[in-house]
Amino acid sequence: MKDEIIKLLKKETEVSNKTIDEIEEADIRDFTGLVKEIGKRETEYIKASLISKNLNTAYVGKDLYVYHEVNSTNTIAKFLSQHGLDSGSVIISEKQCGGKGRSGKSWESPLGGAWLSIIISPDIDHSRIPFITLATGVAVAKTLEKVGIENPEIKWPNDILINGKKVCGILAEAVSKNNTISNVIIGVGIDVNLNLEKLPQQLQKITTTIEMELGKKMDENLLIKIFLEEFERINDLLNNENYEEILKEWRKRSYNIGKTVEVRKPYNKSYEGYVIGISKEGALVVEKNDGSLEKVISGECIVKN
Ligand code: BTN
Repeated sequence: MKDEIIKLLKKETEVSNKTIDEIEEADIRDFTGLVKEIGKRETEYIKASLISKNLNTAYVGKDLYVYHEVNSTNTIAKFLSQHGLDSGSVIISEKQCGGKGRSGKSWESPLGGAWLSIIISPDIDHSRIPFITLATGVAVAKTLEKVGIENPEIKWPNDILINGKKVCGILAEAVSKNNTISNVIIGVGIDVNLNLEKLPQQLQKITTTIEMELGKKMDENLLIKIFLEEFERINDLLNNENYEEILKEWRKRSYNIGKTVEVRKPYNKSYEGYVIGISKEGALVVEKNDGSLEKVISGECIVKN
């Protein structure tokens, strides 16, 4: 992580009176102030002032850091969460040069997207951590509905689709201290107005953007504001252990339920089955071809029809 923070500092600062060598040798704690200060500078496309204007939340997005380019907002969020940022703080970047996706994949993050990470200190039992991704998916889907997208769907566990194409991915990462989870970083990447030609060809076919679906550009600042409000609402449900309400909202928008899928898990034989629902723990319930039921809590789930 130190290397990534150094890269951010090299990119974003004139390094004032410190030389790069000094920065590289400095203790990571010394960087915190500088990293925070850069995140409070004016940026060109995504503007903290516009997101904060009329932001109707109690804690989510009250402390906002916006960068022009970082490796990954999740990395910056993790770093800052270890150095005093509170639950609800949000890190945004106009571009990412090392955006992280699920399963160690990279995440293409050119200009025109909403690339952000929210720090939360979940007040829930650790067995419920997978719920955070599900709840975030509901918040994204509701945001899309509010800006005029009809029928966004949530593909378990973390993709949001419009007309079968991916518009958003979610990567939640836990930050541990003394073997317990102190914070969770929820990384959300939404393809708002980006030019799909900037993506590798194999992604272009399976990706869409809000702009393409609405037939007009979407203001990224407004979209982020709405999302932060929806996120706070669903995070409150999570903290109040109202899992049933989250599942209800999730089921309404499920892409998987009622479909035949192939479940692929690392080190296990893949199998085919039919998705009959989602369990109260947030696992996908799959009826295998032999009639037995399997709860899928992790792994890939490829939809066949
Ligand atoms: C996936 O579908 O594979 C998850 C993609 C998550 C991408 C977001 S963009 C903001 C945040 N920072 C990252 O490096 N990744 C997440």
